[in-house]
Amino acid sequence: MKHIISIRDFTREELDGLLDHARRIEQGGYAGNELAGRILALLFFEPSTRTRISFETAMARLGGERISLDCVEASSIVKGESLADTIRVISGYADAIVLRHPKEGAARLAAEFASVPVINAGDGAGQHPSQTLLDLYTIREHLPLRGIEIGLLGDLRYGRTVHSLTYALSLYDVMVHAIAPEGLKLPQNVIHEMKEREMEVHEWSDISKIIGDLDVLYVTRIQRERFPDAASYYSVASSYRVTPELLAGGKPHLIVLHPLPRLDEIDPRVDSLPHARYFEQARNAVPVRMALLKEVMG
Ligand code: NCD
Repeated sequence: MKHIISIRDFTREELDGLLDHARRIEQGGYAGNELAGRILALLFFEPSTRTRISFETAMARLGGERISLDCVEASSIVKGESLADTIRVISGYADAIVLRHPKEGAARLAAEFASVPVINAGDGAGQHPSQTLLDLYTIREHLPLRGIEIGLLGDLRYGRTVHSLTYALSLYDVMVHAIAPEGLKLPQNVIHEMKEREMEVHEWSDISKIIGDLDVLYVTRIQRERFPDAASYYSVASSYRVTPELLAGGKPHLIVLHPLPRLDEIDPRVDSLPHARYFEQARNAVPVRMALLKEVMG
């Protein structure tokens, strides 16, 4: 039984294999019926648009069925049922569980009580491994994951997509620039681990100093829901913004990614520039999650 909890659980060969598989799925026009008769449970204890709908689309394209618990207020969670019990019960109904939860470590805990594979679709500020797969997939469509410089901009403290992506990038030969305002910097333990893995990481607070060196710019939203109070959020809100003027100083082939949703951190005028790849990135969720579901349930 294969759980997908952290991107750390993958080797580089496994990541490459999955992404190659996703590519074949996309090239083959998403054909397949391999999961007919199988059931995927979606348990989302936090809001989601792309992750949830793309998992549903992936399962539908593979001929499978979905069941879901989306309105936590209408479930026995409000009666005080534990996550462990919920997972034990849903394991009896479905062939795999996709879980999003506000608590870091929730997916790892769920995997201990599940008798079917658990896929972590985001655990608090922890990890979001399937997002990382589609982030890598999108980069690979444009650039080799070798010898390039990748800027991570925004809420690097609470952003789980950044935490997963940073670990994955350390398996490749790339340089990372962590660009964040004070208070949103990449946690020191992540930086330490990256350096131990011999990845070059540089920290910046001003994007304009480094924009000209980047091949990829990965922008993130400030994770307001993770802040202890409103004042600390407002002290950093709207503290960075990607504009056409900023990108004019970038390389012609620079690609801009964002896991979405976006608030004000990317100027809508960027959308029509060739740099903007975030909607393509969101679309790539389908072949990537199809490959992942086949791997986990096939
Ligand atoms: C991200 C998440 O939930 O971590 N969204 C996503 O899955 N595409 C990013 C975010 O919410 O900012």
